[in-house]
Amino acid sequence: MDKKIFDQGAQSRATHASYNFGEIYPAQMLAEIPKQGVSMDIGTGVGRDAVAMHNRVNGRLLVVGIDPDEGNYHKAVETYPQKDIVLCHDWAAVAAVKRNRQIAYLVAEVQKLDEPPSNLKADFINCSAVMMFIPQDEQQDFMDGLHSLAKPYRDVFLRYRTEILNEGMTSINQRIFFNQCYSAGFAIRKLPDFPDPPPSSRDFAWHDYLLTAFCKPKLI
Ligand SMILES: C[S@@+](CC[C@H](N)C(=O)[O-])C[C@H]1O[C@@H](n2cnc3c(N)ncnc32)[C@H](O)[C@@H]1O
Repeated sequence: MDKKIFDQGAQSRATHASYNFGEIYPAQMLAEIPKQGVSMDIGTGVGRDAVAMHNRVNGRLLVVGIDPDEGNYHKAVETYPQKDIVLCHDWAAVAAVKRNRQIAYLVAEVQKLDEPPSNLKADFINCSAVMMFIPQDEQQDFMDGLHSLAKPYRDVFLRYRTEILNEGMTSINQRIFFNQCYSAGFAIRKLPDFPDPPPSSRDFAWHDYLLTAFCKPKLI
């Protein structure tokens, strides 16, 4: 992929990695994270949220981080040396990852990814601070891709911001976003504004949603 503008670098990697889940995400999201099954972190970057999900393992949980930037995989390995993070380029490699003991890092763009086999579909998906980096004309494919990753009736936590967008980032219009969710087959729950975002994000107003994967609507 071409090098797009990802603003994780706005804070140091160490600072970014040091936040705990409770500081960053609302209780409604935390309650959805499973202890077993498959949990995905889309746009995982250096893997902070994938690692936090992996720390909650209490059963046979497979954590899959997905990100198109392979450089981020190497940063994740550097940032979390205590974790066994496995580089994957397809679902077959993800299937070989040892649940509980390892984390799969799948290098891919969600909108171009094949549908996973049913045993690798997600019980929960976190997709935080990614939507603004998806070009407008790929956003429907991105939402369709998210839908194809989730098991039926399972939730995606999706967070985006509409302010302080750097050059090259996409401004998200809520009405268009709702249409994209509906077309992809998601029911939408808008969560209340997160009252106390972490210091790095205080300047941003985040928009948080829980999207439930239903059948796609038949458009006739
Ligand atoms: C601002 S970072 C967010 C990192 C992390 N999720 C967080 O909340 O701190 C955006 C990430 O989205 C990833 N990304 C961009 N396009 C993507 C796509 N099409 N599919 C999956 N991830 C993507 C980037 O590589 C980058 O790591």
